[in-house]
Amino acid sequence: MATKGDTQQRQRVRPHSAPVPAEGENDLFSESWFPVCLSSEVSVGRVIGRNFLDGRIVIFRGDDNKVQVFSAYCPHMGADLAAGKVIGSSIQCGFHHWEFDAEGWCEKTGLGDPPPDTACLYKFHSREKFGLIWAFNGDEPWWEIPDYPKTEDELSFSVSYDVPVLPVDPWVVCANTPDWQHLKAVHRLDFNHERLYDQIEWTDHSMEYDLDAKLEQGDGPSLIARVGIYGTSFFRLYGEFMGQWICALTAFHLLGPGQTQVYYSLGTPKSDGTEADDARVAKTHQLLFNLGKSIVTDDRPILHSIKYSPGVMTKSDRALAKYLGMVRNFPRSHSSSDFIN
Ligand code: FES
Ligand SMILES: [Fe+2]
Repeated sequence: MATKGDTQQRQRVRPHSAPVPAEGENDLFSESWFPVCLSSEVSVGRVIGRNFLDGRIVIFRGDDNKVQVFSAYCPHMGADLAAGKVIGSSIQCGFHHWEFDAEGWCEKTGLGDPPPDTACLYKFHSREKFGLIWAFNGDEPWWEIPDYPKTEDELSFSVSYDVPVLPVDPWVVCANTPDWQHLKAVHRLDFNHERLYDQIEWTDHSMEYDLDAKLEQGDGPSLIARVGIYGTSFFRLYGEFMGQWICALTAFHLLGPGQTQVYYSLGTPKSDGTEADDARVAKTHQLLFNLGKSIVTDDRPILHSIKYSPGVMTKSDRALAKYLGMVRNFPRSHSSSDFIN
């Protein structure tokens, strides 16, 4: 009997869909909210330095408890402000003691020379939410980090980051959520994907759907949750797991082109203060951490070796194809380029 492989006329040509631009390609990055550190890493009066996009930023908390995210390099001689110190709500450069106010403008020089008009830092739009500090790439945020149906005050979060860094862009990790073939193959989730595509709620920057799944190919606990991807940089979920209301973000810090640090922000309703409820919160955090960690661990063999390249697809890839289309056309810019490099 002839098999498909015997067909003489078949040409061996690798099919390619339109490529998705890499972060940093043509000096552009997607306009998304990226986590840049944990809230707990910047206590009042503390400054830290981090890699972000293709450069370096500083994150500090002034005595007004507000967090600022600025380009790291001082416009005087280029010292890294992470080696400076926080004074009130300003940051002082360690090299010649110029001070920059909460808007990033130089307000004072070390020896009292008038501050030059042009002496400024790049100020990123930032948010402090769900135990993370976030920075937006772009001049003006045109979308927001969404809230959960419960307020942040009602919730208790456990926040951490995962190592090692993944050698892919954040959007590659995001593309796993609409990739239902992989949810079943890699993560062993059992769910009915047949009519899911029609249920997806798309916006200009997000996609969400209701997932009703059982773990371990149907042998594990149920996960009934609203799941989705925002921009090119985070996954979020909220719903029911093991009898508890839960919410979770896995958010992806763009440490550099092709470098992603995964952060977990895991929440459940706050304890009522009793020992039993404290134990419930601690146990739920642990369950969620184990779930998040096992998902990222499942993905690692693929993500550490893949050369992500959309090729030939099937019907079950419709959601993935549409998400990749969103990423392909996502607004890109790099207004901080000159400052962070
Ligand atoms: S390099 Fe920062 S004050 Fe001189
Ligand atoms: Fe995955």
